[in-house]
Amino acid sequence: MRYRVTTKAPADVQAEALVVLFDEQGPLGEAVNKVVVEHIASYRRALEKKTSSREWFCTLDPQTGAAARHLLLDSAAFGPWMPGREKLKCAAARAVSLCREHSISKIAFVVNRKDSLEEAQAVFEGAVLGDFADKRFKSEKPSPAPLDLTFVVAKDAQKATTDMLDATEPVLRGVNLARELVNAPNNILTPGELTGHGVEIAKEHGLRFELLDSKKLEKQGYNLLWNVGRGSEHEPYMLTVSYEPKGRVKLKEHLCLVGKGMTFDTGGYCIKDRANMYLMNNDMGGAAATLGTLLAVAELQLPLKMTAIIPSAHNAIDGGAYHPGAIITSKQGKTVFIGNTDAEGRLILADAFQRAARVSPDIMVDFATLTGACVMALGNRLAGLFTEDAQLRALFEQAGEATGDSLWAMPIWREYAHRLVHPLADLNNITKPGDMGGAIHAANFLKEFVPEGVRWAHVDIAGVAATDTPYRCMAAGGTGFGVRLMVDVIRRMVDAA
Ligand code: BES
Ligand code: ZN
Ligand code: ZN
Repeated sequence: MRYRVTTKAPADVQAEALVVLFDEQGPLGEAVNKVVVEHIASYRRALEKKTSSREWFCTLDPQTGAAARHLLLDSAAFGPWMPGREKLKCAAARAVSLCREHSISKIAFVVNRKDSLEEAQAVFEGAVLGDFADKRFKSEKPSPAPLDLTFVVAKDAQKATTDMLDATEPVLRGVNLARELVNAPNNILTPGELTGHGVEIAKEHGLRFELLDSKKLEKQGYNLLWNVGRGSEHEPYMLTVSYEPKGRVKLKEHLCLVGKGMTFDTGGYCIKDRANMYLMNNDMGGAAATLGTLLAVAELQLPLKMTAIIPSAHNAIDGGAYHPGAIITSKQGKTVFIGNTDAEGRLILADAFQRAARVSPDIMVDFATLTGACVMALGNRLAGLFTEDAQLRALFEQAGEATGDSLWAMPIWREYAHRLVHPLADLNNITKPGDMGGAIHAANFLKEFVPEGVRWAHVDIAGVAATDTPYRCMAAGGTGFGVRLMVDVIRRMVDAA
């Protein structure tokens, strides 16, 4: 993908298509040329009379050297309920897909309305995320020309727009990396492969990393992770990557991200129902969000110290697989009764939190496809945010609204904490049948392993890491949920530092 910014008159821009999008305030681009201005006017009339098809191509005289085709699209067509600038992203994605249908890859977006930097960012996001089509597992792999975007902006907006695009592009790459990781099936993306992607990012950016394989996990006492991974021929791993910027660190808090990396979750001996088991390819969505964020942070050289930790395993069954009823001593020391082998995410996270303790973070955030109960509570478009830190909560809520990675705050309700107690072991990984509120129980369980004094937020992305139908500007499959959110949270923390 290529992108550039120009302040030329739209009619002088060389592109195969010139796109004018509309939001509530009207067209993002103005003074396109007489023909287009007229089209816009008649388009708006048609919209008002509700007779419009809402999008069309119009071929102009190619002799003039002007862009040959115009595409007008109204973002209102994409549903008034959408938050923030999501509608605009949808419109941009639709514009790109229409262009692709006509084998057009050189596209100019006119966003020269006054103060339209945020709109330009939404258009960029929608265009790039909308153009993502995962054909890796098809035998026929079309190779469309790379997207070539021009942003036609107002005279005084050239520099700000260029900076914005440069600051956004790595984030979108992070989102699309996360989407690819989530889409990859369990026979290809094993724990070794998943953590291998993190190692690649580390090597590319000269970051220190540590990769613990099954032997080392066992030897060092990461018994929960090791046991969850025992039943598979794909051995478990734990990856730790330490990011430090080449320049000055601005944020004084050391941030640690932890991402659940179950490359498949059969449920183990507490085996899942056959109907939806395949969905558990996505059970590494938290790891994907963490790696996508790491990629963006490293590319952008954001001024903070950050550690990314990926505990990864394949929850499967063989003679050695851990059983319900087992009692396992965690790396931290607490013993855990395995009430259910399908409640494995909290187990591998618990050991990962103990790895985190060794790097002494100030703030720890985990992303995990942790509970079906969270999906029951919030559905497929809203993640659950669990934190007792009011500042973190506010940051995540603001970032959620700004980025479209939508979330809702849930309680870490202490009245339910007694459900963790087991008569023989320190903790039970499940609560008793009929208790309900499973997402809260899981958060209470995790809280037992958060290192002393660390500010912590847990994001349950079970419902949102992937979508089975196209959603907003994205195709069905992995959503990359968490990448834009986390980068935005980091930026807010850095800005306030
Ligand atoms: N990976 C699942 C949670 C999940 C469910 C993710 C649906 C995505 C969509 C997790 O490991 C799990 O199986 N949780 C159990 C816990 C239960 C046994 C206490 C659940 O939510 O049913
Ligand atoms: Zn499970
Ligand atoms: Zn799981």
